[in-house]
Amino acid sequence: MKKIVTVVGARPQFVKAAVISRLIKSEYAGEFEEILVHTGQHYDENMSDIFFSEMDIPYPDVNLHVGSGSHGAMTGRMLEKIEEVLFAEKPDLLLVYGDTNSTFAGAFAASKLHIPVAHVEAGLRSFNMAMPEEQNRILTDRISNLLFCPTQSAVDNLAHEGLSKGVYRTGDIMLDASLYYRQSLSMESEFVPSESFVLMTLHRAENTDDPQRLKGIVDAVNALESHRFVLPLHPRTKKYLEAASLSFGKHVTLIDPVGFGGMLALESACDFVLTDSGGVQKEAFFFKKPCITLRDQTEWVETVEAGWNVLVGAETQTILNAVVNVVTPGEWPALYGSGKTGQEILDTISEKL
Ligand code: UD1
Ligand code: UDP
Repeated sequence: MKKIVTVVGARPQFVKAAVISRLIKSEYAGEFEEILVHTGQHYDENMSDIFFSEMDIPYPDVNLHVGSGSHGAMTGRMLEKIEEVLFAEKPDLLLVYGDTNSTFAGAFAASKLHIPVAHVEAGLRSFNMAMPEEQNRILTDRISNLLFCPTQSAVDNLAHEGLSKGVYRTGDIMLDASLYYRQSLSMESEFVPSESFVLMTLHRAENTDDPQRLKGIVDAVNALESHRFVLPLHPRTKKYLEAASLSFGKHVTLIDPVGFGGMLALESACDFVLTDSGGVQKEAFFFKKPCITLRDQTEWVETVEAGWNVLVGAETQTILNAVVNVVTPGEWPALYGSGKTGQEILDTISEKL
């Protein structure tokens, strides 16, 4: 039996881990033992616990309760505490997802102890090193032994950085989650309005922490009074809107962050999506909803090439033009696999470990 320590900590990682942690407890129960470590980066009930209870993810074996802080403080605290877990557990592999501070801290702690690292969502690049996520991705990939890439462009990005050993092209783990949970969770939500609406999310540091970009986005949405918006508000955004004394008009329904079932309900019912989230860009695509992305670059370039996603940055007029011209493309290519990525990843780990 091989022992895997999985490190998660932020909302998108709970969604991704849900797939593999569930498989380890079921189909792969005889092969792997998983110790699930939650760094505590996200800690509000609706940013963390709701995902474990609703999605039937095994509860974390360890919670490091690191909480919020500056990048250095948060990452440093995680490193020290993850190392203690690794000393105690002596795993055969450390598994991380995505590009958050929890991702990098997990990978770095294991790499220093010569414990092999598997990175799910390897090779994604925005080519914007100012983004904390880009730094985390590049550093994590460099020290990973098994690099699971969701797209060919991710494989190509790694090749350009001289990384080809241990690189595997799989599908996208979030497609597995989207397909599985739309069957198993109630797709009803009290937050889905009866009339047509736009689903919006906003939380990336490059938008929230820059008052000019934040104002550009708020001004655009406030000018779109003929549309109804539903915006589950990330705590980071709440904080920065208050600091910048910015607010949305009455046509924008602000709600607290919702669980994954609520989010699937909103994604399936909306007309289109306005977001700066990595995961929500893809989920819009999974539901065949056009997406307008409030960023200057995306790692999910295939959605743009296929005509389902348009990048608008944070400039008011550009956002308005995109909303007016939003279209649903005729073709929907299967860009992200068949929904069996969890099995592909576990089979490869089983073979290579
Ligand atoms: C983090 C990730 C980002 C990811 C996002 C997913 C990094 C560098 N960033 O950003 O890539 O897209 O998670 O949602 O890892 N807060 C709360 N309650 C919580 C969590 C956060 O109030 O449960 C507030 C705190 O004021 C905190 C702020 O949100 O300072 C930001 O949280 P943090 O984890 O630093 O970054 P995110 O913006 O969530
Ligand atoms: N999500 C959710 N509730 C919300 C907002 C997002 O369940 O209120 C889910 C969303 O469906 C996706 C994931 O969280 O699966 C994306 O996380 P987020 O946007 O926080 O981070 P990113 O993907 O940008 O790193």
